[in-house]
Amino acid sequence: MIQGMLRDDALKGKTIIVTGGGTGLGKAMSTYFLTLGANVVITSRKLEVLTKTAAEMESATGGKVLALQCDVRNYDEVEAMMNASIAQFGQVDALLNNAAGNFISPTERLSANAFSTVIDIVLKGSVNCSLALGKYWIANKISGNILNIVTTYAFTGSAYVVPSACAKGGVLAMTRSLAVEWGRHNIRTNAIAPGPFPTKGAWERLLPGEMASKFDFRNRVPLKRVGEHQELANLAAFLVSDFSGYINGEVITIDGGEWLQGAGQFSALEMVTPEMWDGIEKMTRSAK
Ligand code: HXC
Ligand code: NAP
Repeated sequence: MIQGMLRDDALKGKTIIVTGGGTGLGKAMSTYFLTLGANVVITSRKLEVLTKTAAEMESATGGKVLALQCDVRNYDEVEAMMNASIAQFGQVDALLNNAAGNFISPTERLSANAFSTVIDIVLKGSVNCSLALGKYWIANKISGNILNIVTTYAFTGSAYVVPSACAKGGVLAMTRSLAVEWGRHNIRTNAIAPGPFPTKGAWERLLPGEMASKFDFRNRVPLKRVGEHQELANLAAFLVSDFSGYINGEVITIDGGEWLQGAGQFSALEMVTPEMWDGIEKMTRSAK
């Protein structure tokens, strides 16, 4: 069991908007922010899910949660969600762009609408939220903080999740661009690239049915395990806290070494046994 990393009250007085905060990793990160004293706004399309999660989180942490329905694809809804958050808590200090849509598919099987649906949730949604919050922070001279959840294939690309790869790559470009442009307004922008962290939402769409046992993510990770939600929550809490005050424009990978294992030309030699290495060593030593 991984423990919380930051000291008590590390986020006290901060209000953080978490898109997609009603489920999965958004819920885990939100819960830890509350434990550290933050007020949290969780937002997504399904109000029923949000309301249930908010009640659960409030009773577990004693913190204050505002559940607001908002489809991040629609700028007007994002602005209304932001204004309701400010009305409730007086100020918003940080935005966690966590909402996403994704599913595996050969690209040629996708309709144009399927492709743009994922781009709209991930890229346009993150743009809409960052734009609304950025305008508000700059106009009101508030130090802001944007944290974007991307993936490791934001920088490598990945077959079979091409809309998501395009969108996450765009979010990473936005992260680095805004870090420079809005740094002078005291707005920091960073990203986290998680490896496999099991959630219902991701596993149902990326490893449906028997795929979960046939394509075991643990085999792809040098540490031979998937991530624990608290490990991600620790990193996210650090990045939205003032303890990371000089980190700006960074993307931090938290994947147990997964993407490097996939990239390294000789990673598959892991399967070679010590006995086989004895023979291989003789051969390589005899090469003159
Ligand atoms: C092909 C599909 C499809 C599928 C939907 N579509 N699912 N096409 N294969 N499996 C098509 C539809 O036919 C439609 O196109 C278009 O996509 C939009 O579908 P809707 O169902 O109308 O969209 P919507 O209700 O907006 O739902 C969005 C969604 C859905 C992305 C399709 O899965 C969703 O709500 N996802 C949210 C949660 C989520 O995805 N979580 C996982 C994040 S995991 P047509 O042409 O028929 O109109 C992640 C992790 C990455 O990002 C890394 C892991 C290691
Ligand atoms: P999840 O539980 O399915 O989370 C996705 C969330 O996004 C849901 O709460 C969903 O809520 C919300 N959402 C989807 N479309 C939306 C829209 N149009 N407007 C507002 N909210 C919307 O999956 P997860 O695994 O926790 O994923 C969280 C984040 O981590 C995502 O950015 C994902 O790409 C990233 N990630 C996950 C993994 C992993 O292994 N799990 C790995 C790398 C990156 P509604 O349906 O109510 O709208």
